Amino acid sequence: MTTPPALEASGAPVWGHRAELRAAADRPKGDCSDFARRGPDGIAGGDNRLVNPTIRIPAPEEAEAVTRMLCELDRENSTMMLEPGERSEDPRLLQEWLSVLHPDHHCYLVVFDGLRALGFVHAERGPFRRSRHSAYVVIGLLEEARGSGWGRRLLEAVDRWATERGVARLELTVMTHNAAAIGLYRRCGYVEEGLRRHSLILDGTPVDEFAMAKLLTPDR
Ligand SMILES: CC(C)(COP(=O)(O)OP(=O)(O)OC[C@H]1O[C@@H](n2cnc3c(N)ncnc32)[C@H](O)[C@@H]1OP(=O)(O)O)[C@@H](O)C(=O)NCCC(=O)NCCS
Repeated sequence: MTTPPALEASGAPVWGHRAELRAAADRPKGDCSDFARRGPDGIAGGDNRLVNPTIRIPAPEEAEAVTRMLCELDRENSTMMLEPGERSEDPRLLQEWLSVLHPDHHCYLVVFDGLRALGFVHAERGPFRRSRHSAYVVIGLLEEARGSGWGRRLLEAVDRWATERGVARLELTVMTHNAAAIGLYRRCGYVEEGLRRHSLILDGTPVDEFAMAKLLTPDR
């Protein structure tokens, strides 16, 4: 596994062909699997108005914005892996990681509103011949970016990355009380495969997780 534990056991950054993907990200409209799509009129409603959000691969120089977002995510909710303060706030770790990740093994995408990072998705392929057809997915959005379709767009971008590389299975785990995430995963074609009993300890209490997965090729 190339994911440094200091960053996050379940998600940090990149995958290349940056020029190609940035070009896609700059396109104003189009299929969301182009890795970039604006919300309706480029704006999400409510008090938290996102001016011009796009999905793209972060450059290593953007590690500070992404690290800030990841730390904020840890503070905002308890449905992801890391507790507040458990992640390193030093952007150099992420910067280094971003600069070496291989696009065939990692899909790391961030929702940016200008220079501000609002959320991310990370898919990482298995490291061995017998597991590299499969990728493990982690996703998280700051509260202000939720409920506007960005989660779905990020997962659709992962589907496209996977399809282009012959990745046939996407899998993840989710706490059984995380209704929003389970709703998103089902909406995007993931199904429950099993129950991981007491797989996490949340504030001193054991919590179950669903194992969920999506096959991108027909069942054999
Ligand atoms: C889970 C998460 C990524 C969803 O992202 P999102 O951008 O809010 O979701 P979207 O707006 O793209 O919604 C897509 C679908 O998800 C489902 N969904 C979204 N929010 C939901 C909710 N609160 N309850 C039930 N289903 C929900 C719906 O089916 C929705 O489709 P619809 O809009 O056609 O009804 C976001 O809530 C989040 O980041 N949560 C905190 C971090 C986290 O828990 N990550 C997952 C760890 S496993």
